[in-house]
Amino acid sequence: MDAFRVRGGVPLQGTIEVGGAKNAALPILAAALLIPGRTFLRRVPHLRDVETMRRVLEGLGARGGYTDHCFEVDATDLAGHEAPWDLVRTMRASIYVLGPLLARFGRARVALPGGCAWGPRPVDLHIKGMEALGAQVSLEHGDILAVAPPGGLRGAHLAFDVSSVGATGNVMMAACLAKGETVIENAAREPDIVALADFLNAAGARIEGQGTTTVRIRGVASLHSTEFENIPDRIELGTYLAAAAITGGEVTLEKARPDHCGIVLDRLRDMGAQVLVEADCIHLRASERLRAIDVTTQVYPGFPTDLQAQFMALLSVAEGSGLVTETIYPDRFTHVPELRRLGADIQLKNNVAAVRGVAALSGAHVTSTDIRASSALVLAALAAKGESWIHRVYHIDRGYERIEVRLAGIGADIVRESVSGP
Ligand code: UD1
Repeated sequence: MDAFRVRGGVPLQGTIEVGGAKNAALPILAAALLIPGRTFLRRVPHLRDVETMRRVLEGLGARGGYTDHCFEVDATDLAGHEAPWDLVRTMRASIYVLGPLLARFGRARVALPGGCAWGPRPVDLHIKGMEALGAQVSLEHGDILAVAPPGGLRGAHLAFDVSSVGATGNVMMAACLAKGETVIENAAREPDIVALADFLNAAGARIEGQGTTTVRIRGVASLHSTEFENIPDRIELGTYLAAAAITGGEVTLEKARPDHCGIVLDRLRDMGAQVLVEADCIHLRASERLRAIDVTTQVYPGFPTDLQAQFMALLSVAEGSGLVTETIYPDRFTHVPELRRLGADIQLKNNVAAVRGVAALSGAHVTSTDIRASSALVLAALAAKGESWIHRVYHIDRGYERIEVRLAGIGADIVRESVSGP
């Protein structure tokens, strides 16, 4: 099993090109199932989760693969409408095939995704959304079985009581081929949803309002082959900016969408980093010790839960104390005991972590628990005195493309090692 060995204390310096967004690529690849033709998606990151989605699509009879960062899917002839448990259990985003399969075949069977390391992650809104479009949904042997009414899905007016990226995307995909108009109220506004809608429109869908809380989808008879460029990954970007900030470094992130990460840049400035934006480049310099701030996760355009752990790593070495409040996933704190191993001073009560900055962290053995928690451990290790080992980095490979190579490229002392044991 792979681990990272990190020797901390080197200020990072250099330039990184931001990769394509994982959380936009996954639903777009699932949406390719709606198209009886070919999809060319550029700027797809090479990640374990993308490979899992490729295997899910392949299991359904679509052909697909990468050339460089371009992903081609041919879903002209699909073989089935059942996404099996062995793949779905490894990646919650597999639930994204539910809407496309239901719309295209009139039925779908998708294994119920499991909970995550940081607590339960329900799919009730996905199910309610499909039911609103007229589908009968039941749970059978651990699978979600959805069946469209005779004549196919029907447009509907639905309002989510919680803003959900996944449920918004799933209903949007299903509604593309439904009869009549669907209106989603309290729709998620994340850039990933906008990218998905833009992709579907490029394939002939009629979606309006993406990026606002009211999305309107007028059903069309079919979608057609298309090409699309994925958006840059604002979470990867935030992670690399945090890496520069925690080491007192200076980096430039190229091919970014600064408009997708305004609040993250503001929080970094609040902590004392100098952040400059020029067209699609973001430049960060951290010449002094960071100052503590309070961070509260919110739906977009609020502070992303997917950067909560990384900012907790920053607060661990900042001057003063700050509160980290998690409102999206109240249990998402598996990184706290691991950061403590590195010397962080964190007190956790319910969904609020009180972090008191320490003068220095010290290297230790720590274990990854999920994608973003692992990247927070990498950041903390980059700042720690001495050597750290981060184990089970397969979690990080799910969401970051060759993170150790890219960090080493801007001066980090980090290497991947194969270690025995868990
Ligand atoms: C997506 C992202 C994930 C990110 C999350 C929140 C992908 C592949 N993953 O996950 O990285 O952390 O958005 O920004 O894009 N909820 C329900 N019922 C449902 C669905 C969700 O109650 O059926 C709740 C969740 O428990 C959570 C909130 O809604 O409290 C938001 O979750 P959601 O936006 O759906 O997250 P995902 O789409 O799973």
